[in-house]
Amino acid sequence: MAYINDNFIKIPATYLFSEIAKRVAQHKTENPNADIIRMGIGDVTLPLPDASVDAMITAANEQRKSETFRGYGPEQGYDFLRNSIVENDFKSCGIDIEADEIFVSDGAKSDTGNIGDIFGLQNRVAITDPSYPVYVDTNAMGGRAGEPSASGQWTNLVYLPCNTANNFVPELPYEKVDIIYLCYPNNPTGTTLTKEQLTVWVNYARENNAIILFDAAYEAYITEENVPHSIFEIEGAKNVAIEFRSFSKTAGFTGTRCGYTVVPKSVTALSENGEKVSLNRLWLRRQTTKFNGTSYVVQRAAEATYSLEGKKQVRALVDYYMENARIIRESLQAAGLTVYGGVNAPYIWTKTPDGIGSWEYFDYMLKEKNIVCTPGAGFGPAGEGFVRFSAFGSRENTLKAMKRLEK
Ligand code: MLT
Repeated sequence: MAYINDNFIKIPATYLFSEIAKRVAQHKTENPNADIIRMGIGDVTLPLPDASVDAMITAANEQRKSETFRGYGPEQGYDFLRNSIVENDFKSCGIDIEADEIFVSDGAKSDTGNIGDIFGLQNRVAITDPSYPVYVDTNAMGGRAGEPSASGQWTNLVYLPCNTANNFVPELPYEKVDIIYLCYPNNPTGTTLTKEQLTVWVNYARENNAIILFDAAYEAYITEENVPHSIFEIEGAKNVAIEFRSFSKTAGFTGTRCGYTVVPKSVTALSENGEKVSLNRLWLRRQTTKFNGTSYVVQRAAEATYSLEGKKQVRALVDYYMENARIIRESLQAAGLTVYGGVNAPYIWTKTPDGIGSWEYFDYMLKEKNIVCTPGAGFGPAGEGFVRFSAFGSRENTLKAMKRLEK
């Protein structure tokens, strides 16, 4: 008899965005002529930058000839991409990261989900509430979250509420935690931490031998000063933090798939016998065993985003979505709704009117307005009473959706 990992039956039967897709598909079946505007999942709509497509064509052509053909590549990424990342994302900002601290992957979702492999089950994990569902779901799958309770919280997780009362700035936990997930600019609330606010967390981690798992997938959307683009801007973070980055939201790689994780060689955690072990070494071991690397063609496409042309094209994509964010934010405000985010992030976190539940408001928006948003409760109990609008649609659809909401 084979047995399953029982943790899988404790988690909701479907992943948040799969559940939404299911409801949208059903609505479409029942209303085949409905002009549905998708502002739910943060999936980009503009095509890839030309620089990346040109690089992919060149790289694909190299695969035709035996002299330039590539088979298995290094699991942690080719040097050409790791060096470009170091130069452009870190050294240029005065951050000292080395190429062997960069692990190229197929995206931040996989890495934030897989990172739990290198941590013991006895760790106490803190997660901001609301948060990207991958953090909670993968800890639950791994057996680190305990049991789900009626309130929607897991018994072994420490929730760090982010709400209007604390201006979406998580407070330090009352009980000691070992691993802390932070995502800034935040998905789903679109809010940020200042350097001083992030320093509080880095100091906490240093004082408590904790590790911060910092998801910076949306850093390119930062427009304000004093908002850190990387946790490694904060003194001491290289001893206590791992950072996740993505080409999905910056260069439109949601389908192309490429991201990377920075695991400084100085970041360590304890073995059961009290020995300090390098997390860089463990992640390298994990990746070389379970992952065969991102495809060469895709890594060339990612590298091209750092060329002069590539940078300009990526900037244009980000600016386009941020203009959508402005339109959504201002239109929702004009419609009398209370909104957060959308200034340093492509998400607008919106309070539902009259205290309507977030799934109820999602259904109303879908059925009455043919607009897909994401119910806040899907991101955790503190998301109840909110919905999230994504700014990744086309300009035309964004304007059309906002016009529908005026009515
Ligand atoms: C989201 O909508 O929260 C994200 O697009 C999901 C993801 O990046 O996996």
